[in-house]
Amino acid sequence: MFKIHYKGYASFENMINLKNITVLGSGIMGHGIAQVSATAGYNVILRDIEQGFLDKAMEKIKWSLDKLATKGKISQQEADSIYSRITPIVNLAEAVKNAQLVIEVVPEIMELKKKVYAELDAVAGKDVIFASNTSTLPITEIANTISRPEKFIGIHFFNPPQLMKLVEVIPGEKTSQEVIDLTQEYVKSVKKESVLCRRDVPGFIINRLFIPMVHEACYVMDRTGATMTEIDSAVKFKLGFPMGIFELADFTGMDVIHKATVEMHLRDKKVILPHPTIEKMFDAKKLGQKSGEGFYKYSDEKYERVPLSEELAESAIQSNLLQIF
Ligand SMILES: NC(=O)c1ccc[n+]([C@@H]2O[C@H](COP(=O)([O-])OP(=O)(O)OC[C@H]3O[C@@H](n4cnc5c(N)ncnc54)[C@H](O)[C@@H]3O)[C@@H](O)[C@H]2O)c1
Repeated sequence: MFKIHYKGYASFENMINLKNITVLGSGIMGHGIAQVSATAGYNVILRDIEQGFLDKAMEKIKWSLDKLATKGKISQQEADSIYSRITPIVNLAEAVKNAQLVIEVVPEIMELKKKVYAELDAVAGKDVIFASNTSTLPITEIANTISRPEKFIGIHFFNPPQLMKLVEVIPGEKTSQEVIDLTQEYVKSVKKESVLCRRDVPGFIINRLFIPMVHEACYVMDRTGATMTEIDSAVKFKLGFPMGIFELADFTGMDVIHKATVEMHLRDKKVILPHPTIEKMFDAKKLGQKSGEGFYKYSDEKYERVPLSEELAESAIQSNLLQIF
């Protein structure tokens, strides 16, 4: 467990020894963030609105830890002790009673987030820091609805938090330097790499790059007549990306991409030129890997790689389909 020293930060008595974290929301991201925090030694309370959701989340965490133990990455004893550091609780006041840091991971709906923060603000101790895992919503706008905007920050983990190394840290206009430092230290302590997004811009850093890229890949297909696998192969083998853009979009999910598109476009029309395909796929519930079909089709729920190749990339470039590479 690490200690963070604050010079002249009276409300933390110049030092906070971060031990207790509450994660609000036990869905796709929340259960993973709870797991990585418990793995780093924190006492974690996992909170959701129904016991059934928490039961499912705890099952997933157990499955994931047992798998790590079976693979020899951790011992079974370590897996059990990490699991025992996570306590599922439905009652909000009880869930945040001892919290020093609350990480909020509820659905990406502004009105819901504001409602959750109003409830949280009323029951959490005055020194408790609130960190939102929002992908696209403005940090300053949420912060301004609570009594402690200087203790509010964005902390954007990527999916799945257990595997993805990068975490964006996004201060709002009033976030204190101490809270920025503490959040970055926390990210380091859970063995992730933090990147500071100095301005609270729509999409922060990664989605501001990635989401327009998905739309642009659709425009490239319209303009060139190249196929998805050709474009993805060129992106992977000629640009050196770990995955193709359509492939990554399917992994991310069209619901996530659609939501990010709407939020970013709403706040800054210059960031993105939405391509109609994304809207159509979202409406048709072609959500990607999770629904069995997105840009590509998938045969089962397990993660499947798309057949991309260097040859496909080469032939698309040789035939002048993709001249930008
Ligand atoms: N899924 C992704 O790929 C991804 C990646 C990065 C960030 N995010 C962000 O993380 C957040 C959560 O996304 P998700 O995909 O995990 O959503 P999800 O729908 O899988 O999980 C959200 C959970 O929050 C719970 N919840 C609702 N109201 C609550 C409340 N008042 N208190 C506690 N829990 C409550 C829901 O019951 C649900 O279990 C969103 O802001 C999203 O933008 C998602």
